[in-house]
Amino acid sequence: MVKNVLVTGGSGNLGNCVCPYLKEQGYNVASFDVNPAKPDSPNGKARIPFVQGNLTSLGDCLRAVAFARPDVIVHLGAIPYNTEVQPPFAGEHTAAAEGARYSQGAPEHTTMEINTMGTFYIMDAARRLGVKKVVAASSYFVLGLGYRLSGTPFLPDYLPMDEEHPLWPEDTYSLSKVLNEETYRAFARAYGMQVTALRLLGVYYDYLEWSRNSYKFNVTVPPADEVNQGYLLSNVYQYADARDVAVFVKLAIEADNLSTFEAFYVATDTSYNEPTRVVAARRWPSLAEKAKNIPGTEGLISIKKAERMLGYKPAYSWRNTL
Ligand SMILES: NC(=O)c1ccc[n+]([C@@H]2O[C@H](COP(=O)([O-])OP(=O)(O)OC[C@H]3O[C@@H](n4cnc5c(N)ncnc54)[C@H](O)[C@@H]3O)[C@@H](O)[C@H]2O)c1
Repeated sequence: MVKNVLVTGGSGNLGNCVCPYLKEQGYNVASFDVNPAKPDSPNGKARIPFVQGNLTSLGDCLRAVAFARPDVIVHLGAIPYNTEVQPPFAGEHTAAAEGARYSQGAPEHTTMEINTMGTFYIMDAARRLGVKKVVAASSYFVLGLGYRLSGTPFLPDYLPMDEEHPLWPEDTYSLSKVLNEETYRAFARAYGMQVTALRLLGVYYDYLEWSRNSYKFNVTVPPADEVNQGYLLSNVYQYADARDVAVFVKLAIEADNLSTFEAFYVATDTSYNEPTRVVAARRWPSLAEKAKNIPGTEGLISIKKAERMLGYKPAYSWRNTL
């Protein structure tokens, strides 16, 4: 029976949902983050024990693991966006607006350094102190969606995409998540660990006003000519509710049927109000043929593997709660 859990990135948006949830579920939870939890945050209110430190320091990672003595590390800590600066595109297609950064908010190597080396150090601390299980946040951006810097169309090999689909990352955030999955595979192989990577769709936080304002549900996806020439560049209109992600983390912690490394796409629902094949025909004509057999409102990215292997059943769809 797993008792102790260390959550990296515990002070972040997802950490503030996952830590209190796991505590409620009976685990001893500790958080490790470069930023302390605010007293009025969910973690602050739940009095989650906290270790301050940097993922890019092996010493800090060892200190956090030694403090928490975890049976499982839930690794959420990361820079959740890319930091390289891109020139504007003026070609036939347009780059995903949110992926093209025109000014430096942080040194350009920040995402690669923190995400890849931070993951290496926390895994290294884990294996040195005998931790055998890690549940880690990856992203659906590994596919090459999301920050699609080239601005070229994304043409999936098949739909719905699943964990077998090839990965074509472009930006440093997506690339760091692909490289991290290789790091997990290597540690799992070398040290007999079990690592589960959650390839999260865009996370919706019902407890954060900015998230409530920026996610739109029950939408009629606009006709293709209003947005681009009918190609998929970035937005798949699928999301993961943070409360479902917290439940998923628990399922992954408790699973005993997984091989040394497993990746899962994690989503709650699509946000549109028509069948996916209808949306695809109008919004992404280039995908219409491949999407025509997707049942109902199931997404372009399938969560069937998680349903089959972990019994995952998302409960917080807007279709049930709005
Ligand atoms: N939010 C989403 O839509 C989404 C989608 C897919 C994947 N993810 C992944 O989920 C995880 C959590 O995302 P989030 O939305 O909570 O992001 P967040 O930015 O709110 O939280 C990340 C946390 O990591 C901490 N952190 C950053 N650098 C650190 C360092 N060097 N050392 C220690 N801590 C450090 C930050 O202080 C922050 O508290 C990330 O791995 C992210 O890549 C998020």
